[in-house]
Parts: sequence; structure tokens; C-alpha cells
Amino acid sequence: MSEKEIWSAADLYFADLLAPSDAQLDAALAANHAAELPAIDVSRNQGKFLHLLVRITQAKRVLEVGLLGGYSTIWMARALPQGGRIISLEYSQKHADVARKNLDRAGLLDRVQIRVGPALETLPVLAAEEAGPFDLIFLDADKPNNPNYLEWALKLARPGTVIVVDNIVRQGKVVDGGSSDANVQGSRKTVERMAAEPRLSAVVMQTVGSKGHDGFAIAVVQEVRS
Ligand code: SAH
Ligand code: DHB
Ligand code: MG
Repeated sequence: MSEKEIWSAADLYFADLLAPSDAQLDAALAANHAAELPAIDVSRNQGKFLHLLVRITQAKRVLEVGLLGGYSTIWMARALPQGGRIISLEYSQKHADVARKNLDRAGLLDRVQIRVGPALETLPVLAAEEAGPFDLIFLDADKPNNPNYLEWALKLARPGTVIVVDNIVRQGKVVDGGSSDANVQGSRKTVERMAAEPRLSAVVMQTVGSKGHDGFAIAVVQEVRS
């Protein structure tokens, strides 16, 4: 077995035990496939991880940047307490339409608000509306903009807010400071900003599994003593 096959087999073993699929999750992936959306949703184990984070933080207000077909949204929305809400931002009207159907089928549309447009345009609208502070913020859209999304996340946060950023490690390519890959530079800037920002305490957890070698940055917003 190749490394990737070993990682995928272990991913499947744990997911089947602890993050089993169900009719709504299966239907969402099938609808994404039928609509030819890219298969870049979080994995089942990653979805369960986000689900548990919502529960552990007792988040009532969640912001997601990068909806796609709403697969990660379903995992998180199912963890919300009564009255909890997710706002999810998506550039593509087509993706948003597929996601809305997936969330409706899963009975979650009452808890999820979708905002269509480039996130760098919809984030300032959220700030102007005073839609925050959010308890949990998940950044999973275009990676070169992650440093910009992190700045908006800080504006829409409170002390205690948890910020999670997907796809930071990029098969380890993140260590190459000279990389011409804008995704890698986006990761590096994001983590370096987290390191330099006194309002954040953060870590990167590498992952292996069905999506290969990657990882999340996880940060908590903290008060800064002046
Ligand atoms: N969180 C999803 C996967 C998101 S994939 C899941 O795990 O199920 C990334 C999504 O970000 C895509 O749907 C893409 O259209 C969207 N995206 C890309 N650039 C964007 C931008 N500038 N603003 C908002 N969304 C963007
Ligand atoms: C891609 C995007 C993602 O959010 C992800 O988890 C995996 C891959 C991509 O754009 O290729
Ligand atoms: Mg991702």
C-alpha cells in the first residue's frame, strides 16, 4: 500500500466508526457530483471534527467562508444549539443553489443563511450590519485570500472566538518560503500573522487521510492587556 492508501484506509476505519454517513450527507455529495462541483468538501472525519468544535465551544453564531455544496455546513449546523445560526459566504451562485437544496433536504435551512458574492465584498457588509461577533469562524474559500479573511475574522470576533483555517499545510509545501504557489504564500502569511498577532493564540495540526497530507490552523482570540 502507498502512504496515501494507508492514510485513506485509516481515515475510512475511523470515519465508519465515529463519523458515519447518512442519507442527507450522501445525498449532498451525490447532488454535488451531479452538478459537477469540485470534490473538495471536508472529509467525514474533518466534518465531525468541525461538528465537535461547534459543540465544544458551544457556538451559537458560526461564520463560514467557502460554502461549496454545504457539506461542511451540514456537519456544523447539526451541532448548533437551539437558536444557533451559520452564515456561509460563497462566490458562486451555482454552488450556492446546490448547497441550498442540500441544506433544505437535511432540514437545516432555517439555521443557515447563505450570502452570495466575493467574500471580500460580503465580509464588510456583515461588519457594517454588526452581524458579529461570531463564536466560531471557518475559513475555507480561495487560499490566497486567507490573510485578508483572517483580518475580517478578527473584526467579526470577540475574545474567545475560535478561528479555523483549512488547507494550511498543502502536502508540506508550506515550508517553502520561495514558493511561487499563491496558495502556499497564503498559508504562510496566515500562520505568520497568527504568530505575530497578540490577539491570537494558535496552532497548526497536520492531518493525513483521504484528502492527503494537509492540516488546519486553529486560533483563539484573546484579550490583550495594555
Ligand atoms: N467548506 C466546503 C468546501 C469549500 S470549497 C466544504 O467543506 O464542504 C471552496 C469554496 O469557496 C468554493 O465553493 C468556491 O466557489 C468558494 N470561493 C472561492 N473564492 C471565493 C471568494 N472570493 N469568495 C467566496 N467564496 C469563494
Ligand atoms: C481545494 C480546496 C479546499 O478547500 C480543499 O479542502 C481541498 C482542495 C482546492 O481548491 O483544490
Ligand atoms: Mg478546504
